[in-house]
Order: sequence, then structure tokens, then C-alpha cells
Amino acid sequence: MPRVIFVDSNESRREVEAEAGTSVLVAAQRNGIDIEGACEGVMACSTCHVIVDAEWAAKLDAASEEEEFMLDLAFGLTRTSRLGCQIELTDALDGMVVRLPAEWRNMML
Ligand code: FES
Repeated sequence: MPRVIFVDSNESRREVEAEAGTSVLVAAQRNGIDIEGACEGVMACSTCHVIVDAEWAAKLDAASEEEEFMLDLAFGLTRTSRLGCQIELTDALDGMVVRLPAEWRNMML
């Protein structure tokens, strides 16, 4: 099972395992990692914004236009920002490091 290492804004790290095919958002939520995911993965919010470490970001498929649009609304956008609900875990991503931004903007409130 692929592992994901979540790093929060205090640099605290947690490693979790999730079945291949699970999204980063679901892997986080199942393990008590603090990512909101207000729209539950239908790309109607940006509360699942994560920052993928550059080395891993290069291994991901490019973001869709819809994902880019929602990311533009996120606080603290970086070049390797992604929506956690759109990253599907695979064995090739085993050990991926994902950072949680300090703030989110919830467009659904
Ligand atoms: S959970 Fe809303 S866009 Fe990912």
C-alpha cells in the first residue's frame, strides 16, 4: 500500500498508508489528518489544497483545467499546489510528501 507523508504548518510529519486508488484527501480523512474537503471531491471548493513536494509533483499527472480553476481560489498557492481530492495514490507515489497549507478558503460557506 502506498504511504503518504503529511507535513503540517508546524513541520510535524505523519506517515499514513492507503490503498492504491484512494485520493490523498480520503487517505488524510481516514487517518485524522486535518484536511477539510468540504465538497467531498467534486471540485467545488479548494479546502483540500495541498502542496506536493517538488520531487513528487513532477510524477503526478497535470492538473485539469477545472482543478487549476479551483486552485486559483486557494490561499497560499504555490507551483506545486494541487487539490488533494484529485491526486490518486498509486504504488509509484509510495512515500510522497504532501504539505498542508496554514489556511484554507472555503468557497462553500
Ligand atoms: S474536496 Fe472540494 S475541491 Fe477537493
